[in-house]
Amino acid sequence: MDKPYAPSCDRNRDPILAVLREHFADRREVLEIGSGTGQHAVHFAAALPHLVWQCSDRPENLPGIRLWLADASLGNTPEPIALDVNGAWPTRPYDAVFSANTLHIMGWPEVERLFERLPSVLAADAVVAVYGPFKVGGRHTSESNAAFDATLKAKAAHQGLRDVEAVDALAQGAGLALAVDRAMPANNRCIVWRRAPAA
Ligand SMILES: C[S@@+](CC[C@H](N)C(=O)[O-])C[C@H]1O[C@@H](n2cnc3c(N)ncnc32)[C@H](O)[C@@H]1O
Repeated sequence: MDKPYAPSCDRNRDPILAVLREHFADRREVLEIGSGTGQHAVHFAAALPHLVWQCSDRPENLPGIRLWLADASLGNTPEPIALDVNGAWPTRPYDAVFSANTLHIMGWPEVERLFERLPSVLAADAVVAVYGPFKVGGRHTSESNAAFDATLKAKAAHQGLRDVEAVDALAQGAGLALAVDRAMPANNRCIVWRRAPAA
């Protein structure tokens, strides 16, 4: 089996890394949800060696992720774990969670499920970072995002770009406070939340 390869990861990894350098500087253990190929994981884990980067994804993606991790042979990328947001979640806390390009692939009920279950894996001061294309104020931020949304929906009706405000509302419901909503290259966004202290 050849390593799976997503060209987009080569384009977006350094802009994302710049955000993670800032917001994950004081973090220790990251759970990545929907690691995909594993390319982001090896790039971020190599650049941020103070972190333990825990990949996860649906079981069918784990063999490809393992190939990337084995090739990189880093000391801070444990064996990837199976995590479908609809199924069983890890039973231990992480002080950071990262997910890229997943919320428009999951159906909305799965996005809701993700934020429902998220608190169960968050340490008290956890930071959550999500990257991808979003609508803002109910509108697409570019023609290319509108076209991408239409392509997704034509192939799979449950997929599609999410409203950043609707996702933030789910995050607030999960006890997270918005820290940053940053416009990124190619009409993407990186949104960072911090677990709000218990009232
Ligand atoms: C477009 S890929 C993004 C992969 C990678 N994060 C990246 O940015 O290249 C979407 C990812 O979401 C994952 N995904 C979709 N539905 C999921 C679910 N219900 N639970 C967990 N992961 C899911 C897929 O398996 C896939 O890895």
